[in-house]
Amino acid sequence: MRHLVTLDDLSNFEIEQIFRLAAGMQSQHDTWAGICRSKLLATLFYEPSTRTRLSFESAMERLNGGTLGFSDPSSTSVTKGETLADTARMVTNYADVIVVRHSWAGSARVIASHANIPVINGGDGSHTHPTQALTDLYTIIRRKSQIEGLTVGVCGDLMYGRAAHSFALAVSRFGGNLVHIAPKGLQMPPWILNRLSQIHGQIPLEVENVTEVIETLDVIYVNRLQEERLPPNVNAETVRGSYLLNAAVMKNAKPDAMIMHPLPRVNELAYELDEDPRAAYFEQSANAVPIRMALIASLLGLEQLILTQPPIRYIEESSYQCKNPNCVTNHETYLVPEQETFKGNEEVNACAYCGQLVA
Ligand code: NCD
Repeated sequence: MRHLVTLDDLSNFEIEQIFRLAAGMQSQHDTWAGICRSKLLATLFYEPSTRTRLSFESAMERLNGGTLGFSDPSSTSVTKGETLADTARMVTNYADVIVVRHSWAGSARVIASHANIPVINGGDGSHTHPTQALTDLYTIIRRKSQIEGLTVGVCGDLMYGRAAHSFALAVSRFGGNLVHIAPKGLQMPPWILNRLSQIHGQIPLEVENVTEVIETLDVIYVNRLQEERLPPNVNAETVRGSYLLNAAVMKNAKPDAMIMHPLPRVNELAYELDEDPRAAYFEQSANAVPIRMALIASLLGLEQLILTQPPIRYIEESSYQCKNPNCVTNHETYLVPEQETFKGNEEVNACAYCGQLVA
């Protein structure tokens, strides 16, 4: 059985296979309708969502499967203190595949290790958002045919934006060259920079303002300020409105650049760009459906050839208590901490739940 908790759960080959299936499903929908008949997708949304939940529901129902779940945790047994592990064990009996979104980093990993059915991470705190990254890569490939060699700017709140984290790691895996564009205090966190350099040998250029690099970018990926995740010591007033992509900035961009955004946008991406042929953000949200259709079918084993061998990872139980207050191991205290080891130029250890480096 396979899960998608982080993109590390899939090999590049498997990701390319999912893209091929998604393209087939997008162009010849009728061939695939019916493939999930009598299968159920449980949507466990402990955090707000529009696109992710609706596109998963749309994907499952377009394959003639059914959906059940919640988007308001206050109406569930969480309010009575039920743990993620127990919820996972129970939902296993009600559905065939789970998608979960939760505010704690590593929460999807907990669900995956206690459910006997495939689990998909629909966003875990400020950690990762792997299905968004699949959609993003697929959207780039459809316009530009490949990621390799492209200069990709990731712009905005890179500290707390989980979509930006998964996107940067994914671009790097497929040979894109990253430029990180973030106001002070919102730069890409050390755990991502470390993976980029140790696993992919990439040290991205880091700048504060998109105007410094706009002429060089093939892709400009904007991401909103994650106000709901800012720690109390960061004053939202000082960073709110500190970056904006608009027509004046795009005047200096390449004529075939792509403007991307996982959405929702707040005030970092001007509406005047919606008519610009370089805008690809609504295409991104449309592509979320075939990507999630292909992913569900693959994880359910309905397309045998797609998922072959998961990448090898080195994960062990440990006595190290993670220092990230948002890590699920600091909330669900029955969990035994686990560490993942990477061997790049040096050996690096990170919390297997939230990715934070072991100090
Ligand atoms: C993102 C998310 O929830 O992380 N949205 C999405 O799933 N498309 C991005 C965000 O909320 O900023």
